[in-house]
Amino acid sequence: MPRRGSPGLATSGAFADKVWPVTSTERSWWRDAVVYQIYPRSFADSNNDGTGDVRGMIDKLDHLTTLGVNAVWISPWYPSPMADGGYDVSDYCDIDPSFGTLADADEFLAAAHERGIRVLIDLVPNHCSIEHPVFQAALAAGPGSPERELFHFRDGSGPDGSVPPNNWGSLFGGSAWQRVVGAEGPEQYYLHMFAPEQPDWNWANPRVAEMFDDVIRFWFDRGVDGLRVDVADGLAKHPDMPDTPIDPATGLGIAYYYQGSPLWNQPELDAIQRHWRSIAEEYSGRHLGERIFVCEANVRELDALMRFVDEGRMHTTFNFDALLCEWTAATLRAVIDRNLIAHASVGAPTTWVLGNHDTTRVATRYGKPETGRPYTLDGGDPAWRARFGDYFYPQPTDIELGRRRARAAALLELALPGPAYIYQGEELGLPEVEDLPDEARQDPSFFRTGGRIKGRDGCRVPLPWSGTTAPYGFGVDATPWLPQPPIWAGLSAAAQDTDPDSTLSLYRRALAIRAGHPALGDGTLAWDEDHPPAVLHFTREPGFGCLVNLSEAPVALPAGAELLLSSGPLDGGLVPPDTTVWLSRWS
Ligand code: NOJ
Repeated sequence: MPRRGSPGLATSGAFADKVWPVTSTERSWWRDAVVYQIYPRSFADSNNDGTGDVRGMIDKLDHLTTLGVNAVWISPWYPSPMADGGYDVSDYCDIDPSFGTLADADEFLAAAHERGIRVLIDLVPNHCSIEHPVFQAALAAGPGSPERELFHFRDGSGPDGSVPPNNWGSLFGGSAWQRVVGAEGPEQYYLHMFAPEQPDWNWANPRVAEMFDDVIRFWFDRGVDGLRVDVADGLAKHPDMPDTPIDPATGLGIAYYYQGSPLWNQPELDAIQRHWRSIAEEYSGRHLGERIFVCEANVRELDALMRFVDEGRMHTTFNFDALLCEWTAATLRAVIDRNLIAHASVGAPTTWVLGNHDTTRVATRYGKPETGRPYTLDGGDPAWRARFGDYFYPQPTDIELGRRRARAAALLELALPGPAYIYQGEELGLPEVEDLPDEARQDPSFFRTGGRIKGRDGCRVPLPWSGTTAPYGFGVDATPWLPQPPIWAGLSAAAQDTDPDSTLSLYRRALAIRAGHPALGDGTLAWDEDHPPAVLHFTREPGFGCLVNLSEAPVALPAGAELLLSSGPLDGGLVPPDTTVWLSRWS
């Protein structure tokens, strides 16, 4: 398969005269891409107001080029009151003024494409912001109006209508129903599976689908290469909206995914996603190869999740199994195997991910005594929820251990078949900021639970670019929207730039090898079982090996292998614990 570098083609529409000197026109670029997640609010601040912005993203394109990523995924950059960090969208076809303008976004797209970097953006179709004009119109139009049909408005029950329409809890805490208080007092409720500022769209109404068709085309016309679909498993609700079993942690109906839930993975999703795919196909081949959809779906059973990437549906879906995985050989091996087998059955690549803006940063998670509890948002697995009902991750962190393992995990992730995602700051080895003062916190789950859930702010702290004191080059002397800790000083991109042992240097070397090595990216692997059980070793053809030492003792390099790259120093030629090596093999 050709890898990179074939000439680009002219596109159509607004960009018809533009020639993209980008990577390739091959259809399957996304099958082995390394995608870097930008959380715009915290990436780079060009105008010194303490908040990241699109011009900051343009300024830092060199960082991404030097790193060697193939694509970026930008978390929502749309106008938003920021009740949920931009996942409360008040206009799907513009840029939030604090981030810049549509012209800046166009410039970013063109500049990224010129460097061979494709651009995915976030599509947030499950809910909007209460400030979205269509929701405002629904409020104004009143009960029974066609405007209210675009959302889930229902009457309450009881003598004064004060009992919510059903028992559903919100994923951010509290009831999923918010009562509207109009000029004449309390009236109907509307559904919000997340914050009350995020009313859920009613996807049973065809006008909602039509609006989103326009949104998708708007961004594809501007040259966006793909859409990461937020809450891709939640758009359709069971039409009867039945109560769910009580969640002992909240006393309300369970909001998170379980098999048979009326909230998730409803059959109507199939048609919605196939229709989106048909839109993407219209654009595919015009330039830059396929336009793609990446699902964020928390469906836990793999056979059900694989339906999202059935032929004709979405291209990839995040592998949250890997994101949740503990740092043990047995679990990693099981997660890798079952995901590769499941994805192969539908011909989709497995999408590897170690962290994102919703989870405890990997360097901290792997420094905990228990390493399989990353999900700060919904607690994930019910067993974890029972144990850590307050969602807090209370264990002490050994950050040196965590960073060593995070480096080892990065080499493992990047050696596996399929696309890999890097959450901004992972390439710097940033830890979670666990001690943010409560006054600084912004995550709605913190407020909705009276502080019982600390939330996700600790992985969203603005990046350190340079200097030894805050704001570390995130702006000049502004106060970043979340405070940066003193430990950022030694972890800035500038501090790591010329240090050959830094995490940044490791990522750069790994991505350079991955880009040029014919065995890496899409494909298959074969396990070499000739090792202690706590040592994972697989090979990929031609001539590549990856060995991860999860045991407590150093292990020898496999016979016939030469070292290509190591996540940490070898110990007298042996691979120490919590270290991954990439190998050249000639057997
Ligand atoms: C998933 C996003 O990743 C998260 O940040 C957001 O809060 C929810 N979806 C709701 O949009």
